[in-house]
Parts: sequence; C-alpha cells; structure tokens
Amino acid sequence: MLREVTATHYVEPLRSGGSVPGVVEADDLGTYVVKFTGSAQGRKALVAEVIVGELARALGLRFPELVLVRFDPAIADSEPHQEVRDLHAASAGVNLGMDYLPGARDFTPEIAGLFPVDPLEAGRIVWLDALTVNVDRTVHSSNLMVWPTLGVAPPRLWLIDHGAALVFHHRWDGTDPAKSYDFRHHALGHYGPDVRAADAELAPKVTLDVLREVTAAVPDAWLTDFATPAEAREAYVTYLHARVRASEAWLPTDFPTREELAAEEALRAARTQEGRPKWLKRVPDLHGKPAAEQDWSVHLG
Ligand SMILES: Nc1ncnc2c1ncn2[C@@H]1O[C@H](COP(=O)(O)OP(=O)(O)O)[C@@H](O)[C@H]1O
Ligand SMILES: [Mg+2]
Repeated sequence: MLREVTATHYVEPLRSGGSVPGVVEADDLGTYVVKFTGSAQGRKALVAEVIVGELARALGLRFPELVLVRFDPAIADSEPHQEVRDLHAASAGVNLGMDYLPGARDFTPEIAGLFPVDPLEAGRIVWLDALTVNVDRTVHSSNLMVWPTLGVAPPRLWLIDHGAALVFHHRWDGTDPAKSYDFRHHALGHYGPDVRAADAELAPKVTLDVLREVTAAVPDAWLTDFATPAEAREAYVTYLHARVRASEAWLPTDFPTREELAAEEALRAARTQEGRPKWLKRVPDLHGKPAAEQDWSVHLG
C-alpha cells in the first residue's frame, strides 16, 4: 500500500515533462513530484506508473518512493499560467506523488556519453521495459535520472515516469501477451544490455503474488475499465503473468552498436546543419559532445 500525505505548499511546475507534474511539499516534510489525475494522459497513466514502478522496486531496481498526495488546488494559488491552474482544478483530491530527488539530472545523450552503465544493469532495465511494454525510455526521452550529483556518493541511475507503459491497457482484448517490441532506440541500447542474464534473474521473480501485490497498490478510483476494481487488477495480473512466461518471444536482442548509433546521430546532425541558413552554420554542433560542466567522470572515482 502507498502512504498518503497531504500537500501543504506548492513549489513549481515541471514544464520539461509533457504532463506538467508539480513539485509540492507535504505534511510529512517530504518533497514530491505530483502527477495529476486531471492531466491529458489520464488516470491510466497513473495506473501504469504505480504498477510498473512498484514492480521495478520489487525486482530491486532503483525507483523513488511513490505516495498518494491529497491536493487542494487552493495551495497553488500563486501559479500564474491558466493551463496549469486548469490542470490543478481538475485534480482536486488524491493524486500520485514521487519522492523528489534533489539535484538529479536527466540522463540525456550528453550525459550518457560519459556515464558508465553496467551491461547487466542496462539489461535489467531494458527487460523491465520489454515486459511492461514501456514506449517511453528512448535516447532522447530517457525517463532515467542520475542521482546523487554532488559527489557525496557515486551517482546512480534511477527510473522515473512509467506513464506510457502497459500500452495493452488501451485495448484490453486486442494485444497478444507474446508480442515482440522494437527497442532499437532504447536509451540504454548501446551499453550492450545483457537481457538474457536479466531474464534468467528476473523472470522467476515476477510471480502471481508479486503481481497481486503491485496491482493492490493502485487506488480503486483509478481502475474503471472493468465492472469492479478487483476484476481490473486481475486483468493486469493475468496479462503480465502470461507475458513474463512468454519472454523468449519478446526478448529484445538486436541492439544497434555504438558505432551504428553514432552514424545515425551524425546523419541527423548533418541534416540539421543542411537545413540551417548560412549565418547559423557557424554555431558549434554539440551532437554527442558534452559541454565541459557536464563532465560526470569527476564523480566516478
Ligand atoms: N523524482 C524526481 N526527482 C527530480 N526530478 C524529477 C523527478 N521526477 C521527474 N523529475 C523531472 O521532471 C521531468 C518530468 O517528469 P516525468 O515524470 O518524466 O513527467 P512526464 O510524464 O511529464 O514526462 C523529468 O524529466 C525530470 O527532469
Ligand atoms: Mg517523462
């Protein structure tokens, strides 16, 4: 079960995200990133966040704590943008919160170029994404964060944002649980993800009991696809259990090499350059080349 807290202070919206989550402080003195029930992505995105996030945690992957956040739009009265105010007004009541990681940095292609990721860790994350059909962990939208970043402890990868996973719940009767998936542009594809080792390690851990536990964490009010919330939970359990047993059919193995990706990236950069007016062509092209202040190696010891 997720803890429940009450938002007491609104800090700011996170505009880099498509769903415009908000940062709030709560009555337990914690700071949380709130995903609002009234967002365009809808409640199903929150269901996916809870199920996939808690499954990641159960499998030993790093994922910030989730809580349920009681939110009164009145605390965000200072928000000047009407579209954000509308989002808040549509989200009074219980929303989803994720523990805020202070100083965390998005795992962008620039950071990825310098940050070592072990092939087994990459394999575990790719495996989770393949199991849960997460379409939003790509090179340019990684939904991975690097934290901590102040040198107090080695920086690590953290998973965030699973709102676009579980795509099968948009068409309950239509998707084969053994369906393969195109992971060519996965954010961790060029670390040589060892998905076979990950499969051997993780598949036996995705038991009916674990799936029942993670689906139990979803609030009833967000489970409206079936006659009862219990039936909805059972549908997720049944689908994911069938899918994990069919892993041989969907294990992503044909990742492009670092060189192939670099060639694709160079082609992209050349096209960008071609499309530029003459006076802009002299702007330095930083594709794949990190700026000096993004040298993560200083924290790696
Ligand atoms: N727990 C967190 N701690 C710190 N920053 C976060 C956290 N969660 C999200 N962010 C920041 O907010 C951005 C948007 O969040 P995300 O969950 O990806 O929302 P969206 O569904 O809108 O893409 C992230 O790219 C990241 O920069
Ligand atoms: Mg995101």
